[in-house]
Amino acid sequence: MTVEECHKMAEEKAATTAVLLEETRVFHPPKELAENSNVMQWMKKKGFTSEREMRAWTGQHYIEFWDEMAKTYADWFEPYAQILEWKPPYARWFVGGKCNVAYNAVDRHAKGAKKDKVAYIFVPEPTDQQVRKITYLDLYKAVNKFANGLKSLGVKKGDRVSIYMPMIPETPIAMLACAKIGAIHSVVFSGFSAGGLQSRVLDAEAKVVVTTDGFYRRGKPLPLKPNVDEAVQNAPSVEKVVVVKRAGLDVPMKEGRDIWYHELVANQPDECETEKMDSEDRLFILYTSGTTGKPKGIEHVHGGYCVTPAQTTHWVFDLKDDDVWWCTADVGWITGHSYVVYGPLCLGATSILYEGAPDYPDFGRWFSIIQEHKVSVFYTAPTAIRMFMKAGEQWPQKYDLSSLRLLGSVGEPINPEAWIWYRKYFGSDRCPIMDTWWQTETGCFVVSPLPITPLKPGSPTFPLPGFNTDIYDEDANPVPPGQGGNIVNPTPWPSMLRAFYKDPERYMKEYWQMYWDIRPGVYLAGDKATRDKDGYFFIQGRIDDVLKVAGHRISNAEVESALVSHPAVAEAAVIGKPDEVKGEVIVAFVILREGVKESEDLKKELAKHVRSVLGPVAYPEIVYFVKDVPKTRSGKIMRRVIKAKALGNPVGDISALANPEAVDAIPLIK
Ligand code: WTA
Repeated sequence: MTVEECHKMAEEKAATTAVLLEETRVFHPPKELAENSNVMQWMKKKGFTSEREMRAWTGQHYIEFWDEMAKTYADWFEPYAQILEWKPPYARWFVGGKCNVAYNAVDRHAKGAKKDKVAYIFVPEPTDQQVRKITYLDLYKAVNKFANGLKSLGVKKGDRVSIYMPMIPETPIAMLACAKIGAIHSVVFSGFSAGGLQSRVLDAEAKVVVTTDGFYRRGKPLPLKPNVDEAVQNAPSVEKVVVVKRAGLDVPMKEGRDIWYHELVANQPDECETEKMDSEDRLFILYTSGTTGKPKGIEHVHGGYCVTPAQTTHWVFDLKDDDVWWCTADVGWITGHSYVVYGPLCLGATSILYEGAPDYPDFGRWFSIIQEHKVSVFYTAPTAIRMFMKAGEQWPQKYDLSSLRLLGSVGEPINPEAWIWYRKYFGSDRCPIMDTWWQTETGCFVVSPLPITPLKPGSPTFPLPGFNTDIYDEDANPVPPGQGGNIVNPTPWPSMLRAFYKDPERYMKEYWQMYWDIRPGVYLAGDKATRDKDGYFFIQGRIDDVLKVAGHRISNAEVESALVSHPAVAEAAVIGKPDEVKGEVIVAFVILREGVKESEDLKKELAKHVRSVLGPVAYPEIVYFVKDVPKTRSGKIMRRVIKAKALGNPVGDISALANPEAVDAIPLIK
């Protein structure tokens, strides 16, 4: 995105900002909760008397701060010689240290006082199936067995393993087993279909794919393995496919390639040596959406992951030994990586792992789980909250939710109405809401309240300790209150992305180029935000063409290329339309090939085609046929202009377009 485009975007967002900045309600955390919070204990130890002072000091002394956190939260096989080596845009943290996040997440608890503590309470979707409680010792043994199984398949340090699984215990087990032996996991969300999986497996050159026969969704066992069969057909790197039996489906197994998980682990020893990894050794690749259709492989490392997910879970969500933590995110996204797997496990916490839909068998399901397992800290996405708002408060009111003490939100801006509703009906008007702003690239929360922070609905408040997150104008000046700008991180942090897998140029271009000539080493997050007079951040959304549909990150370009792969389609442009529940829904403007007849059936077919190429997560809700779409002279589709026209907003100056008349033909979306 050019500076000029950024500017235009800021103007368009100004209207929204004005509304948000009128937010004057302030909610203070309960005194006792704040007083006893983990962060408050640390502040007292260090002699800080105010939150502001603490946040400011840890930002200024971020290297010293992260050093202390690394020593507090992680165990190291060998200490590091240097805290940070910063050669923008590349950071190396805890240089020379040896560690392994699987050791920190599992081994040390299984060998210590927490061995019989429950790590996961697995709640299957079918209500007639048993809840499974998995202790740290159980987890340790299961991880070791599968790690040995992977080794027996020839998986070695540095090899990539794709994990395409639903929310069952074997998913974190597979991730941890990879980490344990130094293999790099690449989890692919199970809501992607064969096409979405294939591009990710191909790019990662995975040696092994781990999957299941199927999974339960809304009461039905659905197949998953056939997607893998299709995806790996033309993936020469894939030697083995390991299949967990979950849904009892009869799936074909390819001789010599496919192995049942239970057979693989049956005779494996339950001890396995943990690889001593260098801090900077890769832990995982997670593909996320950017401005082009090609998903980018974000690389994260062991050292950073031993520290920040645990530290931020401990500080922001204040986890104590007797808490029951539930982060509802799917493990296929970053929130699942950091806050279902690494953060809570490194802390030795107990987490809920729920397999299924929030509304199955009815809208009471999540509340019944909270009640039954006495969930005390609960973290979800605004889209889920808005879904429950629509379903009605009678659902939370039917259940005893008094075990809850803290709530959290992530993935997209939370509108103040949803925030208030969440606080009232989940949180009995008592629980503070931690609205955490962060990204796949950051690995951990970046802008977020602490349990001591006075809250304003719709604001993730301030940069966390150890961060210097700011909002810059195009000249790298912090913007004054009320003005929109780009969220930036001017200083590095331990769990920052290290690279794009096999694409260093794109890494530089997407995150660092924007301010490079003024100040090298400023990370551009890709979000617009503004601050109010008290310094509270308000997030205004992405500056680039990335959609957030029900909190899931999808690129416009990826959906467009799926559409164009249909023989009837010549060209396509995709935009996000604001939606009351999902935040955004996908709307496609399609130009058909010469001679193809427009019909309602074809619209349905195209939507279905996207579903089958990319997965249900990318389903276009509305398809329009158009004769042309507005483009720049260099041929770039102007999604911003299409969106403005389709939503009935001013389109701005379009004189520079190659075909300004195409704007008139864009219909107003109903
Ligand atoms: C958006 C998800 C507003 C933002 C953790 C960011 C948010 C993108 C929030 C990253 C929040 C995340 N308020 N917007 N609390 N949290 N976002 O990589 O646009 O799936 O850039 O990581 O989600 O999405 P990702």
